[in-house]
Amino acid sequence: MNFHILTLFPEMVVDALNTGILGKAVDKGIIGLDGVNIRDFSHNRHKKVDDYTYGGGAGLLMQAQPIFEAVESVQSRLPKKARVVYMTPQGRAFTQKVAEEFSKEEDLILLCGHYEGVDERVLEECATDFVSIGDYVLTGGELPAMVLIDAVSRLVPGVLHNETSAETDSFQDGLLEYPQYSRPEEWHGRRVPEILISGDHGKVDAWRLEQSLERTRERRPDLYRAWLKNNPPAPKKRAKRKASPDGPEESPA
Ligand code: 6GU
Repeated sequence: MNFHILTLFPEMVVDALNTGILGKAVDKGIIGLDGVNIRDFSHNRHKKVDDYTYGGGAGLLMQAQPIFEAVESVQSRLPKKARVVYMTPQGRAFTQKVAEEFSKEEDLILLCGHYEGVDERVLEECATDFVSIGDYVLTGGELPAMVLIDAVSRLVPGVLHNETSAETDSFQDGLLEYPQYSRPEEWHGRRVPEILISGDHGKVDAWRLEQSLERTRERRPDLYRAWLKNNPPAPKKRAKRKASPDGPEESPA
């Protein structure tokens, strides 16, 4: 899967993602990181890409023309038109569900704004998606694009060593992950829970689910309520009653 990052700071995004697990995936050719400098598409002799906003107000706005040509330049190299995601606090919330959806694309164009934003007209013409990573304000779309690329990439087959690790992670089933322990068995007087050393995989699984539920209930009551709604407790089996002398009961509805 290829990410085309349209930004004034392509090296910021590409260099940061070219390390660790993602860097490995890039080396293996599973993930492509294509940093595109919007400034390269300026027609201005000073390579200017921003200007004042009509109607007044604070700051500068990124102009439509360089962004439009940067998008067109990428699209023209692709076998089919890619989605163009504008990173903005005014977008829909980026969640694991959205990450899963994006991970099915072959190419994604990520547009990172700066200054006070981007001329609305180029968004009308080019953007297919508006995505926010949370309700707080950042100075540009680069960090959000990096967050999106990381979350989407780890869902692409071959990026993680262990195919199941993405499945057991927090959020994949709507619950937070259970606590985990490595050696030694005792550290600072704290012992690893005995069940985990018992070798009884059934008991380990049950303990982990219980821990996930407890942790989610405490830390993310919103997720816990949603999980309960989707996983209602099995109805308790009623004790069989002796046949009544009045004959059989009416069956409920
Ligand atoms: Cl996606 N972009 C910017 N610039 N700021 C943000 C954001 C995105 N999500 C939260 N704040």
